[in-house]
Amino acid sequence: MSDLITNNEIMNEFHIEGGYPLSGTIKVSGAKNAALKLMAASLLTDEEVLLGNVPLIEDVFIMADVLRSLGAFVEIGKNTVLIKANDLNNCTAPYNLVNKMRASILVMGPLLAKIGRTKVAMPGGCKIGLRKIDFHIKGLEALGAEISLEHGFIDAKSKQLKGSSIQLDFPSVGATENLLMAAVLAEGVTEVKNAAREPELVDLANFLNHLGAKIEGAGTSNLKIQGVKKLGGGKYSIIADRIEAGTFLVAGALAGKDLIISDFKPQTLSIVIEKLNEVGVSLQVETDSVKVSKAQSIISSNIVTLPYPGFPTDLQGFFMTLLSLSNGQSIITENVFENRFLLAKELNKMGAKIRINGHRALVNGVKSLKGNLVESPDLRGGAALVVASLVAEGETRVLNIDHIDRGYENLSEKFNNIGAQIKRIDRKEKKNNKYSQTLNQSFLERVSE
Ligand code: EPZ
Repeated sequence: MSDLITNNEIMNEFHIEGGYPLSGTIKVSGAKNAALKLMAASLLTDEEVLLGNVPLIEDVFIMADVLRSLGAFVEIGKNTVLIKANDLNNCTAPYNLVNKMRASILVMGPLLAKIGRTKVAMPGGCKIGLRKIDFHIKGLEALGAEISLEHGFIDAKSKQLKGSSIQLDFPSVGATENLLMAAVLAEGVTEVKNAAREPELVDLANFLNHLGAKIEGAGTSNLKIQGVKKLGGGKYSIIADRIEAGTFLVAGALAGKDLIISDFKPQTLSIVIEKLNEVGVSLQVETDSVKVSKAQSIISSNIVTLPYPGFPTDLQGFFMTLLSLSNGQSIITENVFENRFLLAKELNKMGAKIRINGHRALVNGVKSLKGNLVESPDLRGGAALVVASLVAEGETRVLNIDHIDRGYENLSEKFNNIGAQIKRIDRKEKKNNKYSQTLNQSFLERVSE
């Protein structure tokens, strides 16, 4: 094992011994890509909101800081978050927080709707792509917002948002969510055509309707929102994380022995389950769980990522890992992000044979992967390297695992509980992501069902 660390930055890392079968039950946490939006949406009401099944991940703590910077009360409990945003005293989402987490831009819609003003630092691109926000801006302007881009900030204001008909050029998840949240308190009816259909968006719409919004069509390409004067408060439990579930399904396909992945809705992964069957993985699908065992051999197959209900881009890297061990040649086409193949270089260090050509990856299956020193390129790429290490021969060191902490709650513990051998080495001081054992009782009492 080469001891050369690719750069001198101090990184937290996993040491993973491959080759251990994964069996037992692994419980899926609440969805990161729903939790962050429902937290932002809680800005829309003056009443208390209590969110359940919240994953305790880095991004949730960052979103809590964003909401606090706007004047909201936010308390994080064990997989719960209590929010009360009746006294917002700032409309600016600061650069240091937006820069840490681009989902911070999802406070734009709620702030414009609630207080008619928002200033959000322009989110940078990231390694997987430009991550533009032109659809967000065009849609908010259609609702009557005046938006200017200056000194690195998006500065938006509106006395009163007015319903409008908006056609999205692309079913952008974030743009659909920002527009949905803005339209909820706009005057009149808003239609969003070519809207995103992701289950996390449906969860956002269900949550807002639970607070008194009038949203129809969530999960279809056409949303219709009848603006209301104000929203109430309440409790809401977040849907399970289908991408975490998919992460565990691929791990089971490579090293599972009657592994049960529980507490999620398999129908939110139907195209992925179909694809696993196609490549030779046998699954037992129940209403809220799937049982999976290691495939005898993986049959090569092609993957084309598309907006939901197409194959999810967030699981593309896990299938690159799976198909690296297939019996032939596979082509992966990435249609959602411009640069989401950074994982390939790291997998090739483990003996995979992957060639990138624009937005296509050519994956020639190999017999086995070998442990090596690799570095997480991003959140999902990092988790895919963990999955690859579970089945690789020997030990793998996965560097830069802070990426993984952003979207997975206790990933190494979860895998170790089902038989994996992962050791976490924290070289940097631990983040103080503390959660309260008891939430603010007075607010809790006022949270009505
Ligand atoms: C959400 O990102 C998810 N993040 C992503 O998950 C996920 O990969 C993505 O949706 C697609 O499903 C969260 O929910 C926090 P988009 P989002 O707007 O909303 C372009 C993960 O690993 N675009 O649907 O940013 C954009 O550049 C993360 O959990 C514009 O051009 O995705 C991208 O190429 C990664 N202009 C494509 O659309 C815009 O105004 C899809 O982006 C907006 C987007």
